[in-house]
Amino acid sequence: MRIYSRILGTGSYLPAKRLTNADLAAELAQQGVETSDDWIVERTGIRARHFAADDQGCSDLATEASRRALDAAGLAAQDIDLIIVGTSTPDMVFPSVATMVQHKLGAAGCPAFDVQAVCSGFIYALTIADAMIQNGSAKRALVIGAEVFSRILDFKDRTTCVLFGDGAGAVVLEASDTPGILATDLHADGKYKDILCVPGHVNRGGILGDPVLKMDGQAVFKLAVGVLEETARASLAKANLTDADIDWLIPHQANIRIMQSTAKKLKMPADKVVVTVDQHGNTSAASIPLALDTAVRDGRIQRGQTLMLEGVGGGFTWGSVLLRY
Ligand code: ACO
Repeated sequence: MRIYSRILGTGSYLPAKRLTNADLAAELAQQGVETSDDWIVERTGIRARHFAADDQGCSDLATEASRRALDAAGLAAQDIDLIIVGTSTPDMVFPSVATMVQHKLGAAGCPAFDVQAVCSGFIYALTIADAMIQNGSAKRALVIGAEVFSRILDFKDRTTCVLFGDGAGAVVLEASDTPGILATDLHADGKYKDILCVPGHVNRGGILGDPVLKMDGQAVFKLAVGVLEETARASLAKANLTDADIDWLIPHQANIRIMQSTAKKLKMPADKVVVTVDQHGNTSAASIPLALDTAVRDGRIQRGQTLMLEGVGGGFTWGSVLLRY
């Protein structure tokens, strides 16, 4: 009999500091950088984002989201036998955020590691956890997407700094003989490295290169819309389902226009797309589990419904997870 992995509980965490577009525009104006609520809303759909406090690391956000997911699942940290974190903004070069979360939760012993696939990080992490549950190497996994992108933004570059926010989302997955995750689909193509990257790195005790986010927005936009449709269709085909079977589309929350284009290609009405980009901005690997948790907690997502989760990000990386909630 096939073993599935099922979502037992979800959780998320947003740092307390919330900036509306007007707040951010006022802060940027002090540095001579001009932007406006109208421009940001019209081009991206973003109205507000949260930024972590100086003393909050990625692992702090991830741990809070994990506690809430464990509570929702009715489990203790010791019940978990696998922790995977999707992140590109870890507390340190090493050790991983996952091992820090494990320690903060008090779940010593189980395997814990990070996955670096930028905005597709949660989709990658969920796919790996699903495979490990299916092959019997784990029974209850904590899968997290967590980011502090505010640390790698160039606040002099108005074309990027208005787009991102910080946050974390988590799910508890459990082995089950009923579905669960129905299909997964992952891809990457390293030739697109330069259209979205943070080119700096640590070298002999200093930083070599520019450690802030660089993006060719229009190239990213075109690529994202194409691959998001392809990967959604690939997961549907693997599960022998069609777009009509999807109850909720939960895309990576980068930009409302990318989400609307993808939904249109999949013939999904706007009210079946979970949108949190307006309140969270783009939180990279955290955006999908944050959106999922939001729609679970406000009652939109119900047990038994079919969800399409899909992400795309730097690398380029992209992929999807089709699941029965
Ligand atoms: N405020 C005011 N004006 C701005 C701002 C800003 N924050 N940013 C750019 N502008 C100006 C530009 O300077 C330009 O002015 P000009 O015409 O005088 O030269 C004008 O607005 C248009 O700039 P474009 O870059 O052409 O704007 P575009 O319509 O392409 O929108 C955006 C930019 C929103 C980044 C768009 O390309 C986009 O949505 N790309 C997708 C990228 C994305 O969402 N990335 C997220 C990360 S990637 C991921 O998660 C997969």
